[in-house]
Amino acid sequence: MEKRGKIYREEKIFLSKKNKSSQNGEEISLDGKKIFVRTFGCQMNEKDSERMVAKLGMIPVSSPDQADVIIVNTCAVREKPEHKVYSEVGKYVSLRERIKKDIKIGITGCVAQLKGSELLKTGADFVVGTHALHRIDEIISEVFSGKVIVDTSLTTNVSDRFESPMPYSFYDGSRVKAFVTIQEGCNQFCTFCVVPITRGREVTRPSQDIIREVIELVSLGVREVTLIGQNVNGYGWNTPGEISFAQLLRELNKIDGLYRIRFTTSNPRYMSDELIDAMAECEKVCEHLHLPVQSGSNKILKKMARRYTLEEYLEIIDKLRSKIPGIAITTDIIVGFPGETEKDFEDTVELLKTVRFDDIFSFKFSPRPGTPAARMPDQIPEEEKSRRLKFIQELQDKITLEKMQEYVGKLEEILVEGPAERNRDKDMMGRTRTGKPVNFEGKVEPGTLVFVRITESFRNSLRGELVRQN
Ligand code: SAH
Ligand code: F3S
Repeated sequence: MEKRGKIYREEKIFLSKKNKSSQNGEEISLDGKKIFVRTFGCQMNEKDSERMVAKLGMIPVSSPDQADVIIVNTCAVREKPEHKVYSEVGKYVSLRERIKKDIKIGITGCVAQLKGSELLKTGADFVVGTHALHRIDEIISEVFSGKVIVDTSLTTNVSDRFESPMPYSFYDGSRVKAFVTIQEGCNQFCTFCVVPITRGREVTRPSQDIIREVIELVSLGVREVTLIGQNVNGYGWNTPGEISFAQLLRELNKIDGLYRIRFTTSNPRYMSDELIDAMAECEKVCEHLHLPVQSGSNKILKKMARRYTLEEYLEIIDKLRSKIPGIAITTDIIVGFPGETEKDFEDTVELLKTVRFDDIFSFKFSPRPGTPAARMPDQIPEEEKSRRLKFIQELQDKITLEKMQEYVGKLEEILVEGPAERNRDKDMMGRTRTGKPVNFEGKVEPGTLVFVRITESFRNSLRGELVRQN
């Protein structure tokens, strides 16, 4: 891999702990042992946590003091979640000392990939990067036999990267939704983003494997799948002979018993007409698209190396809205990118007013190690970034409230997920096709489609009355 020497870390370290010789060399079974996992970051990390638990076959517990193994699965995309890793691991290390129990503590995921053996300082027993998770069972066995392990080696082996042991403990008929990985890594190298370093090059999962996994999930009661990857709509672009993302949607749309298909995250650069048509024509593909724009200024988009212009982005939005009526569109925004002037920021404000997204995820630019933007001149002061962030968040709150209000009075198809968070004994919760959470009174089996008349709207959810079951 071209620049690996400089920015990619690959380590494989096995250290033997002293005073553990009684267990050395023994094959340690993980059967019956308990695991607690704390996950930071994106859906890919959530899926990786599920994969690890399934692969280990250990019993998941909800309280760290009951666990034999604690894993902190980490996110490196901004400085804040990265720093949280240290305090989180510190918390478990002191818990271990306090309750005098031999808990094995590990750090996995993106920060592990980025920092490797440096993280042993925290007191962790194992550090496992994003490409070595398929070996988690062997690694933890070795840790129980007295070793301290760092493994941030990289692999392009497709079956290792996508190995998806069916997490039966999760899909026991009570889980309605599942994530399915279709692609991993990123070749786009946006100048602010650490993901190409922590996740490596784009690897495409064979479509046959994806289709097979979705069929299996449906047979276990799953009704909605979210296809995940860092660049899902670019699926297959660098894999000769593979079908396109639009074709993949059409194949999955044929699966009996599957009700809904979602996907994230898409890149405006790969938002083809072929894909928009497939979204419009496949009845299982939901009317929701998360399409990160990052900035409304062409100058900043260029410095970010996003490879589309504001005008191209707006044209995509127009096409989506004309071909897919009622589609909800959400986005990501970064404020305070190096060199972002007041005028550039106003362009972003203007974009938010023009497009009127359903919602946005907005962030202050955070310099990440190994990325070009971290070294660019004209870094924006922290207070100014905070002011810009607050401004757009307040603007978006107003727009989102208005958008939610538009649902009141409408009849919406809801896929029921389970009891609501509040009033659990009376209320159920499900989502509209556009992804809005809806609470309503009634007793309905999770996984069923119902119709709900929306009566009230809030910033982040809707409330309605059950009208009929489908
Ligand atoms: N395509 C990816 C994007 C990953 S990062 C995906 O799978 O979702 C998610 C979002 O975090 C980005 O869209 C961007 O808005 C934000 N982000 C990434 N790097 C950042 C940085 N250095 N500072 C601030 N925000 C950042
Ligand atoms: Fe990051 Fe850009 Fe890829 S935001 S994940 S480098 S598309």
